[in-house]
Amino acid sequence: MSPIIIALDFSQPEKALNFITQLGQHRCRVKVGKELFTQAGPAFVEKLVNQGFEVFLDLKYHDIPNTVAKACQAAGELGVWMLNVHALGGREMLIAAHETVSNYPQPPLLIAVTILTSLDDADLYAMGLHGTIENNVLRLARLAHACQLDGVVCSPQEISIIRQEIGATFNLVTPGIRPEGSEKNDQKRIMTPHEALTTGANYLVIGRPITAAPNPLQALLAIEQSIID
Ligand code: C5P
Repeated sequence: MSPIIIALDFSQPEKALNFITQLGQHRCRVKVGKELFTQAGPAFVEKLVNQGFEVFLDLKYHDIPNTVAKACQAAGELGVWMLNVHALGGREMLIAAHETVSNYPQPPLLIAVTILTSLDDADLYAMGLHGTIENNVLRLARLAHACQLDGVVCSPQEISIIRQEIGATFNLVTPGIRPEGSEKNDQKRIMTPHEALTTGANYLVIGRPITAAPNPLQALLAIEQSIID
């Protein structure tokens, strides 16, 4: 399967289902985030899983270890392929999440969010996190790796430094992807699908370049082609 994960950023489950059905079942994986999950609930995720989609449940859990472990268990029971937690939840929380998911015969991939890409150095300083974004991202990526998580979500700019530091088996899941010539929208630091993969990303989270395209299937096929070339 391709490394593309389509961000299903739709407010209504019917729209999301309609859209994804047009693309064909096994073309790519899908990401369900907070908006769609809050609207449509776990039943919708189960429906996608039962229809054969590999689902990245992007709920970024961040709470005390016991609560996060229980949430990860609930996500695992839905049969999701990937889920995520905030590395800032700390070592004990990350270990609890890892231990919970590793009990599944086919454990979902457990990915950490390091520093949200909406934050800058001044925001970090105001929160008491000293050092640059890059220092903090790397420190949290190392922590996630030490707690045996499967990878991190990172911006295209962080791919190569994390890849160099942490090695080849750590999964890097990267949003901020824009095919050549497409709208940047609100993404500031972007790479093309081809650049991101050659820099070391494993999975590309792509939303609007596909979901808002006049012909989404054609947009997806063009991205797939650009990756092969
Ligand atoms: O439409 P677009 O391709 O920008 O969508 C990117 C997706 O990745 C959205 O669902 C967005 O919430 C998510 N995301 C992001 N940047 C992050 C983490 C997640 O764009 N740092």
